[in-house]
Amino acid sequence: MSRFLKPALAALALVAAAGVQAQGKFPGIGRAATPAEVAAWDIDVRPDFKGLPKGSGSVAKGMEVWEGKCASCHGVFGESNEVFSPLVGGTTEEDIKSGRVANLKRSDYPGRTTLMKVATVSTLWDYINRAMPWNAPKSLTTEEVYSVTAYLLNLGRIVPDDFVLSDRNIAEVQKRMPNRNGMATAHAMWPGKELQGAAKPDVAATACMANCPVDAKVTSILPDHARNNHGNLADQNRLVGPQRGAETAKPAGGAVAAVAARPQQVAQGAAPAAGKMPADLLQKNTCTACHAPDRKLVGPSWADVAKKHAGKGDYLAGKIRTGGSGVWGNIPMPPQSISAEEANRIASWLASGGAP
Ligand code: HEC
Ligand code: HEC
Repeated sequence: MSRFLKPALAALALVAAAGVQAQGKFPGIGRAATPAEVAAWDIDVRPDFKGLPKGSGSVAKGMEVWEGKCASCHGVFGESNEVFSPLVGGTTEEDIKSGRVANLKRSDYPGRTTLMKVATVSTLWDYINRAMPWNAPKSLTTEEVYSVTAYLLNLGRIVPDDFVLSDRNIAEVQKRMPNRNGMATAHAMWPGKELQGAAKPDVAATACMANCPVDAKVTSILPDHARNNHGNLADQNRLVGPQRGAETAKPAGGAVAAVAARPQQVAQGAAPAAGKMPADLLQKNTCTACHAPDRKLVGPSWADVAKKHAGKGDYLAGKIRTGGSGVWGNIPMPPQSISAEEANRIASWLASGGAP
């Protein structure tokens, strides 16, 4: 938990302790956060393993968790570049000894995987525990988090095939993290011991006072052909936070003429309102992580599904909830925790043509 949130919650608990007064002063407003509610927020695991729940999980069990709940997005060996950058790869036996990942210094090395970058195993555990699987965060049991973390470490050859990761041996594993010595803190970017010395941030800007360049020089861009590679980012916004994805279905700059070139936008005018895409539902249930209107992502496009299963609303409603594999390829669709009502609405939209 952030060091700001914790005191805030503690303060909340104090206010709650004075519950009766509070209620008296502001009747009907709020109530005390229960200890169970505070505990549900307080899940951070620190580099010294404070906060790590007791438990364990084997590499073997982790492989099952991985294949059922993670491989569809991250690839069977954590190597996929489809939904997110690869989690595994680029680390060596040498790095495990030195604690510095040599490939990070090679500008010709294609990519930076999670195991190359992450310095603390606690971060890996914590991140998986709080944020994964992406479409159902916090749904894993403690044993599943231990085991799938062990499995990822095993893919990186950090722990052996028969390893059982637990709260008792995780500190030993930390000593084998390939990039454990790769993090610098002497950059004065946040307060630490370094700040008491003479450390300065490693960015040294000199203010330009005369004849300053006015045009920014762009040194790196996303090529046009890659802009919409993962579907329209604007349709994939997270439900929280201030970041909004660009409308990547349009060229950069949002030229109006280009909108007319989007076939689904043209079709939209003609489609009956009832058959319109339930975009809110698809986004809320994170279907958009794997499906796009008109192109294959991890799963088939809505247009292809609608074409293949025209009129088969019941079949589709069932498949949406159970998931499955083999109809479109080997990549499985994980079961979705979506209400029957919402699954039905999506299914009847697809069965009646899936108009955009
Ligand atoms: C529906 C797709 C999907 C599924 C399923 C999924 N992930 Fe992820 N995962 C992502 C995305 C997308 C990100 C990047 C999220 C972000 O940066 O906001 C990510 C990030 C991660 C990261 C952090 C990588 C980094 O370097 O920041 C880890 C570790 C991870 N996933 C592990 C798992 C594990 C373990 C599972 C299964 C329990 C899982 N994921 C299931 C999509 C998925
Ligand atoms: C983690 C990625 C992922 C997520 C999230 C996901 N799907 Fe899928 N979906 C797939 C894959 C992969 C397939 C192809 C499975 C196959 O070949 O049988 C698929 C197939 C489908 C099909 C076709 C089934 C068939 O038998 O032809 C429908 C309909 C579908 N998904 C709807 C949805 C809906 C609705 C959601 C959100 C509630 C959703 N999907 C979420 C990956 C995903």
